[in-house]
Amino acid sequence: MSESADEVSRDDRPNPAVRRLADWDAARLESLADEYGTPLYVTDLDRVAENCARLREAFPDAEVRYAVKAHTGRAVLETVRDAGLPAECASAGEVHRALGAGFSGDEIQYTAVHPPAEDLDYVVDAWREHPDLTVTVGAADTAERLAERGFDGRLCVRVNPGVGAGHHEKVRTGANAKFGVPYDRAADLVESASEAFDLVGVHAHAGSGISGDDLENHRELVRRMGDLARDVSATGVDLEFVDVGGGFGVPYGEDEPALDLPAVAEATREAIGDIDATLAVEPGRYVVADAGVLLTRVNTVKETPETVVTGVDAGMTTLLRPALYDAYHAIRNLDGEGRETVGATVVGPICESSDVFCENRPLPRPERGDLLAVGNAGAYGYEMASTYNSRPRPAEVALGGEADGESGENAALVRRRETLTDLTEVESR
Ligand code: LLP
Repeated sequence: MSESADEVSRDDRPNPAVRRLADWDAARLESLADEYGTPLYVTDLDRVAENCARLREAFPDAEVRYAVKAHTGRAVLETVRDAGLPAECASAGEVHRALGAGFSGDEIQYTAVHPPAEDLDYVVDAWREHPDLTVTVGAADTAERLAERGFDGRLCVRVNPGVGAGHHEKVRTGANAKFGVPYDRAADLVESASEAFDLVGVHAHAGSGISGDDLENHRELVRRMGDLARDVSATGVDLEFVDVGGGFGVPYGEDEPALDLPAVAEATREAIGDIDATLAVEPGRYVVADAGVLLTRVNTVKETPETVVTGVDAGMTTLLRPALYDAYHAIRNLDGEGRETVGATVVGPICESSDVFCENRPLPRPERGDLLAVGNAGAYGYEMASTYNSRPRPAEVALGGEADGESGENAALVRRRETLTDLTEVESR
């Protein structure tokens, strides 16, 4: 490995709980932007592996599954698989990706959320080839649709625990009727489903981005799942696992404290009580968020009476979270050292007023051509990118892992930048 400043500082702090935007090596990011253009997602596979290791350490007796929806890139999936985490998949497409990345059937949990027929067709076909795959259903109806297709394999029942948590109303699932079998009916469904399927687990998910006071809601969910597991056992059904979902928050604010993962794990173990089954958790964000940054260049600078409008080449189509959830992402001007601080409003090139990364944030006075880095872009970043306004999706490079080779200086282009031709390729006229 090379002795870049970045790596030296990280060696000093083995596997820290959070990697801040300031910890990224600015010179290296500059050279990646020069080489691959912007907007550019940069994903550090070594950091992904560190996050997996920290999770497994905190939950030594539990099964830690990766919710792949946070980042489904193949290099990330392979890294997670090598780190020993199975994959939790939310669609046929995610199962397809997981199989392609080398996860075996027993390392795949498919969580069906009102699944389209094509998803069930695909997954039941995949199950015939990989009979150890597990399907989680959130409705009796979904179990029926699986049975109609001849599925009698490993089944898990998703429960609506009646308690939600998360960083925004739009990502709190636990008490939302859309998700899971109502708590009071769950034990009955588990018992009846155990006749037609190999009933292996129960599952619930509170929501995404849980931290601070919200952790108490998560603990309540875990308590309820412990009670349910004991009720189910009393009916004579043997559960292999109780999955209490994902949702571990990461600090988006520069000064926000990192989640005390060992404490959360301890509280989870305590809340679930004695169960005759393995505890499972399925984080997504925690695995990849701080392993990714988004690089974007300043195209236009416009002084206005209210703010310095800073137009960049990434937008809500590249990173949707600020527009959709008012999410805060740290922003660093890699070229701004020594400049005066101004109130900058960083905006993208999309014709919508929601296309804003931050409003009036104190940043070094921007100049055309500056390179900005947006932090914590590894989770739900590229995944939620779109081609709205006919903007091709950005490229992604991976650092670390095999990509770095001997020198530690290499990066691999793991997703090429889309072209204008890509935009129209699927149209027939
Ligand atoms: N398990 C299930 C069943 C889920 O639905 C999710 C996330 C997870 C696990 C992983 O949650 P995590 O550990 O990543 O918080 N796009 C939103 C997040 C949506 C999460 C949806 N489900 C965002 O950017 O904040």
